[in-house]
Amino acid sequence: MSTPAQAWASRARPHEGRVAIVTGAAGGIGLEIALRLGRDGAALVVADADAARLETAAGALRDTGAEVRAMPGDLSLEDTATALAACALEAFGRIDILVNNAGGGVILPFLAHTPQTLKQTIDRNLWTTLWCCRAVIPPMKERGYGRIVNIGADSVRNGLWDHAAYNAAKGGVHGLTTGLAREFARDGITVNTVAPCAVNTPQLVDIAKQHPALVERFVSVIPMGRAGEMAEVASMVSYLAGTEASFVTGQVISANGGSTML
Ligand SMILES: NC(=O)c1ccc[n+]([C@@H]2O[C@H](COP(=O)([O-])OP(=O)(O)OC[C@H]3O[C@@H](n4cnc5c(N)ncnc54)[C@H](O)[C@@H]3O)[C@@H](O)[C@H]2O)c1
Repeated sequence: MSTPAQAWASRARPHEGRVAIVTGAAGGIGLEIALRLGRDGAALVVADADAARLETAAGALRDTGAEVRAMPGDLSLEDTATALAACALEAFGRIDILVNNAGGGVILPFLAHTPQTLKQTIDRNLWTTLWCCRAVIPPMKERGYGRIVNIGADSVRNGLWDHAAYNAAKGGVHGLTTGLAREFARDGITVNTVAPCAVNTPQLVDIAKQHPALVERFVSVIPMGRAGEMAEVASMVSYLAGTEASFVTGQVISANGGSTML
């Protein structure tokens, strides 16, 4: 039996001894998630298509004392996702947590999309998630343990303006969540999605400066009257990525200031 102090100390680093892959971790919400999981004790494998920004992010993560490997590449390609899992296994011998955060919207009225922007939207958000899940599930299954946390979008639930194509991609992520959760429920693997509304990323802050009306419109549907903070998404991810969330699977949990309810 641990003493209350020991129990508290272990709670303070709930992911100690765990290995977490975070995709799209070069900046924004992904970097915030990696910082949080690293602070919570996980060794990190971070990945992103933007090699230069990823290297800077990996440096920032190492500065916090986390053990970090970084792998650049386009995760909408199967080979990159396979290489990412191999990189984690080679470095740390196990994969406990996968956070599928790589993504991002090409937010346009549906008819303003081009074939390229439609394909980009699906590639970035759905194929990255699908390939990374396929790459990490076999080693997780072998060890009988895994936590997969996808980043979806609350806009799937409220049909936010100009989000139809993005919602098609993120809706795919939400659907993958329930199917994988059922399929691997008896393998010790949980699969959940965190669905944020508008989040105050550096990018959103810039957009708000240039086009305040656009961001005000997205915030107008949020009862709390503000965008979310990146840390408010990361804390939900950290919970779902931990052992404490052992009976939670197949859920899409919105971090959204109430913009959709239930
Ligand atoms: N910011 C918001 O308001 C908001 C709201 C709801 C959901 N989300 C989702 O949260 C996640 C993070 O968003 P963000 O705002 O921090 O975006 P961001 O653009 O700052 O970060 C996304 C990262 O993913 C990387 N990425 C994209 N495609 C990739 C690919 N094919 N392979 C590897 N890396 C790739 C990008 O290079 C980028 O660094 C995304 O999935 C996004 O769709 C964001």
